Amino acid sequence: MSENQGKIITKAQLAEHASHKNLWIVISGQVYDVSKFMDEHPGGDEVLLCEAEKDATEAFEDVGHSDDARALLPPMLVGEIEGGGEAAKPKVQVSPVNKDPTSVTNSNPLFMFAPLLVLGVWVAYKYSS
Ligand code: HEM
Repeated sequence: MSENQGKIITKAQLAEHASHKNLWIVISGQVYDVSKFMDEHPGGDEVLLCEAEKDATEAFEDVGHSDDARALLPPMLVGEIEGGGEAAKPKVQVSPVNKDPTSVTNSNPLFMFAPLLVLGVWVAYKYSS
């Protein structure tokens, strides 16, 4: 656990770190100092600079960053943004339970194999006699 965990960072403090070589970005309510990492970022420094003073959660998640990328975050932690940022909002569920009965995504994925099962039974029947 980082010593910076839970330390509150104000929007004003965030605004003071909005330049190249001195950049903090917000992901899931946590503030990270990416100043040193910028030049090493595989996605380039420009995209990080674009997220200065903003909530970069969506941009970060949209890229589908790997676990390796996420593992780089903790050492860069500076604190928590005042107001909680994205983390204060209701979390987007990873696997939402779809209550819409008309939705196909609600069905058991095993049903996808139903036609195969029917075919298998038919073949077995055809060649059994
Ligand atoms: C401190 C936060 C970030 C870290 C530690 C990080 C780390 C990484 C790493 C390790 C990769 C290589 C692929 C992977 O392992 O997923 C990557 C790729 C990438 N990142 Fe980030 N990233 C951060 C923030 C962001 C943000 C905020 C954006 C967009 C605004 C972004 C855009 C990209 C893009 C576009 C790539 C793909 C590069 C390519 O494959 O050509 N990253 N990032």
